[in-house]
Amino acid sequence: MLVLLTPFACVPSWVVMSVLPLIIYPDPVLTRRAAEVTEYSSEVRKLAADMVETMYHADGVGLAAPQVGVSQRVFVADVSTERNAPVCIINPIIVERAGAVQWEEGCLSIPGYRGMVGRSASVKIAGFDPSGNPLTIEAEGLQAVCFQHEIDHLDGVLFIDHLSQLKRDLFRRWWAKHKPA
Ligand code: NI
Repeated sequence: MLVLLTPFACVPSWVVMSVLPLIIYPDPVLTRRAAEVTEYSSEVRKLAADMVETMYHADGVGLAAPQVGVSQRVFVADVSTERNAPVCIINPIIVERAGAVQWEEGCLSIPGYRGMVGRSASVKIAGFDPSGNPLTIEAEGLQAVCFQHEIDHLDGVLFIDHLSQLKRDLFRRWWAKHKPA
């Protein structure tokens, strides 16, 4: 089951959104465990709104706060084809998971590289919206994979960390040639 928040629930209409610069691998902020959000302030709502704008600008399905240089437990995602159903989740935890799936993943912080990763096929996550209201979302398919990928970011884990040693060595050689200048 997919449960999506309305855009309005995610991004207050009064917020002027900005595209933020993306942090690229191997910046150390990407490998740090992000801190819990303790205050549901206008700053965190502005951060969430800017992250949604940044995700759409970069044509991504998900974005975690460390990817814009903010080491806090916030992520945004939108797996809708219309790109009009963003979810923003703060302090997320996976409370249930089921099944297994192999999925080809990429990451806005590792532009151009894709690799197969094993994930749970469905997850139920609990967290808070940017106003501090508790929420739970059950997800499957791309949305479940996306949520696991983004929650990994909050723990300083990248999808390449799930690759075999051999594939990670191949990645390192590929990255040496293809990383952005
Ligand atoms: Ni990523």
